[in-house]
Amino acid sequence: MARRRQIYEGKAKVLFEGPEPGTIVQHFKDDLTAFNAKKKGVAAGKGVLNNRISEYLMLRLAEVGIPTHFIRRLNMREQLVRQVEIIPVEVVVRNIAAGSLAKRLGIDEGTTLPRSIVEYYYKSDDLDDPMVSEEHITAFGWATPQELDDIMSMALRINDFLSGLFLGVGIRLVDFKIEFGRLWNDDEMRVVLADEITPDSCRLWDLQTNECMDKDRFRRDLGKIEEAYQEVARRLGVLPESGPGDVKGPKLVQ
Ligand code: TMP
Ligand code: ASP
Repeated sequence: MARRRQIYEGKAKVLFEGPEPGTIVQHFKDDLTAFNAKKKGVAAGKGVLNNRISEYLMLRLAEVGIPTHFIRRLNMREQLVRQVEIIPVEVVVRNIAAGSLAKRLGIDEGTTLPRSIVEYYYKSDDLDDPMVSEEHITAFGWATPQELDDIMSMALRINDFLSGLFLGVGIRLVDFKIEFGRLWNDDEMRVVLADEITPDSCRLWDLQTNECMDKDRFRRDLGKIEEAYQEVARRLGVLPESGPGDVKGPKLVQ
């Protein structure tokens, strides 16, 4: 394969220049990090599963009118996406208390929240992604008030849609993190869903047993990381074993 220019290497992905202007190749690695990369590991095959899972979720979201950066899957570990200007804000949506919210506010993990809560974190490894408010985001110009309105309403729609989708395959969507980017089309700009949606960036609990099926297995040394990601892919009907292009869609769990 021709050598490609690497644009950026993140903790779980590498970005390469795409074949056409305005495109990027997103390569999913097997690397796992937590606590701002203070903890590192590898889960064999995770990149392949995340490539499929993110593709599947982005395509389903596009079908219900959420604009995304996704174009198409290229191979086992790579997908072609539109080049966007990433808004430096991590958007977290929570349905059930867990992780940093449970700790910060002293709420028992697993408590259903009175309503879905949206939080923002400033993307800065140097600062450990501090939590920020809408005031910080608009005052410092990371996003305009209009962009933030769009982001908030898309985040809630994404949450509603994905909660239902996961529920249909016996999984509780506890919380998740998403990122948005600016996509330029001539002189017009719109905000689109970017980055990835995978078990690296979500908390997913089995509906029956509450067993954790996401990166918390790595954060908390629970083991069986590959198995958990594989089970998420299997339930969504996107396990690579089903053959390339042979995506069956979710299996309904009774
Ligand atoms: P938290 O409870 O640790 O704040 O995490 C909330 C959600 O965001 C959880 O689904 C994991 C995800 N997340 C990321 O994707 N990247 C991160 O850097 C952090 C801290 C959380
Ligand atoms: N994404 C962050 C890291 O890689 C933190 C986390 O997900 O826990 O270190």
